[in-house]
Amino acid sequence: MDQTQASSAGHRPLVVLDKVNKHFGDLHVLQNINLTVGEGEVVVVIGPSGSGKSTLCRAINRLETIDDGEISLDGVPLPQEGKALARLRADVGMVFQSFNLFAHKTILENVTLGPIKVNKVPKKEAEAKAIALLERVGVESQRNKYPAQLSGGQQQRVAIARSLAMEPKVMLFDEPTSALDPEMINEVLDVMTSLAEDGMTMIVVTHEMGFARKAADRVVFMADGRIVEEAEPEAFFTNPQSDRAKDFLSKILTH
Ligand SMILES: Nc1ncnc2c1ncn2[C@@H]1O[C@H](COP(=O)(O)OP(=O)(O)OP(=O)(O)O)[C@@H](O)[C@H]1O
Ligand SMILES: [Mg+2]
Repeated sequence: MDQTQASSAGHRPLVVLDKVNKHFGDLHVLQNINLTVGEGEVVVVIGPSGSGKSTLCRAINRLETIDDGEISLDGVPLPQEGKALARLRADVGMVFQSFNLFAHKTILENVTLGPIKVNKVPKKEAEAKAIALLERVGVESQRNKYPAQLSGGQQQRVAIARSLAMEPKVMLFDEPTSALDPEMINEVLDVMTSLAEDGMTMIVVTHEMGFARKAADRVVFMADGRIVEEAEPEAFFTNPQSDRAKDFLSKILTH
């Protein structure tokens, strides 16, 4: 399949941001953002610190409100509150820089909690599925331990399994490897790459260019609250169009 077919054009639109604006006081943190992510598409978002990448992710699962414009998931505008909002949170998996596991629950319990409490899945069924997911991310043997007994890379893989247990329609990753020691980065990126290959719709904020080149259908470059440029990874990295992107790439590629 060629890359144009892999972009949102040939897929059902799953996440759509339409003229989205958000302010924090005087700061116009999201400025008229238009972005469509097709089902099965992997979009990598990069850009300088403070450009609004995390705010964008947080708006998509409604951890932040927006001032105007619209965000829809699978054709439905994001709900404001109540049960529909809880359902949305289940549909949009999110993995953060910090692993955010429940410290006083075992690895297995971390993964079964959401399905049991929110999706009302019977315990046995939730456990069987959690074990399969923990196998998939390579930490099944750790299932009876507590988060603090695992390495950062293992914890982050558990966090991914925990999100997947809710059967999300889309997975958001906000710098999932930036708190990890270098030797653990690849084990997490490998899990993410295999998820991408399996057809998961993903929005990934990362500076890991190797991952972007390997797994992304599209790179979105943000600066000062705007989408300045978007392109297929190879085109973006080898031939950025804007001065902002050129400047940003020259900084991250040289260190
Ligand atoms: N809750 C908040 N209240 C006020 N300002 C905020 C809040 N959250 C973020 N900001 C500001 O909004 C801007 C964008 O922040 P955001 O975290 O989205 O950037 P980012 O692109 O994710 O940066 P980084 O690469 O450092 O993670 C920053 O100037 C930040 O200080
Ligand atoms: Mg951020």
